[in-house]
Amino acid sequence: MFTTGYAANSATLQILMQKEDIAILDMGVHASVHEGCAFTNKKTFPHNNLEALEHILKMSESMYRTKLVIIDGVYSQEGDTSRAKEIYDLVKKYNAYLMIDDAHGVGVLGKTGRGALEDDGLLDKVDFITGTSSKTFGNLGGYVIANKKIASFLKFQSRQHIFSVTAPPSSAGIVKAIDLVDEEPIWKDKLWENINYLKTGLNDLGLDTGITCSAIIPVKIGDQNKMWDIGRILIENGVYTNPIMYPAVARKDARIRMTVTARHEKEHLDKTLNVFDDINKKNAYCEKNNNNYA
Ligand SMILES: Cc1ncc(COP(=O)(O)O)c(C=O)c1O
Repeated sequence: MFTTGYAANSATLQILMQKEDIAILDMGVHASVHEGCAFTNKKTFPHNNLEALEHILKMSESMYRTKLVIIDGVYSQEGDTSRAKEIYDLVKKYNAYLMIDDAHGVGVLGKTGRGALEDDGLLDKVDFITGTSSKTFGNLGGYVIANKKIASFLKFQSRQHIFSVTAPPSSAGIVKAIDLVDEEPIWKDKLWENINYLKTGLNDLGLDTGITCSAIIPVKIGDQNKMWDIGRILIENGVYTNPIMYPAVARKDARIRMTVTARHEKEHLDKTLNVFDDINKKNAYCEKNNNNYA
């Protein structure tokens, strides 16, 4: 365990990956993964592009001591999933290792809520799984799952682990939250009801929510200034969202990003839809497509 998901990713990679090695990253992975690769060789491939990944794996075949491919279970800006099964097969073909950051998948995806890897049968196959307690578990903390030998190596070698504060007593809430995934699956069902309700409502208003298949719902705006205006109107009307712009996404790809929870009530979601509807009707973002910001 680490104090954040950020530290779990950056510490694990800083310890394991040296100058003789190479880290191969999907372009959509989190900033903490990039930071973890500061002391190693790094190449990125376009999001979920298997041909590009295979090309890099082939090119680096005999050049490095260790090749580690790093992907997300669910991508934090689009809310889409990785092509984990195909990537796993490719990684094994080229004798590499695979690390998956499933910060947004655990508790949300999988038959029993064990995340993006569960339904593909990859949970006990992937070399490293990292994640956070700050999403589904509603707390602070990060983790890395690896075999016992590597886990204890990480504990002893990680500066972030040894020289930083340990988890406070309130972290006990994480243990209960993990139990609830099994004990009260009703929350996952409620979450998916809410996700489908909000996404369908936004799409019915003509808004573009991209390719999300998780609790992360982006509303694509495009222009950064328009996005700020919309974010401001939303908060003035009591709807808290995350305006996302460069460098988190490309300059022309600004969006309002929302995360649905199991504790949202229908009235919260309706209020959000109504504010979007009002913005859509009142202002000139819709010139082109009648009712589309983009
Ligand atoms: C994909 C992904 N990994 C890691 C993190 C970092 O987690 P934490 O907020 O616990 O530092 C985030 C966070 O926001 C994330 O989206």
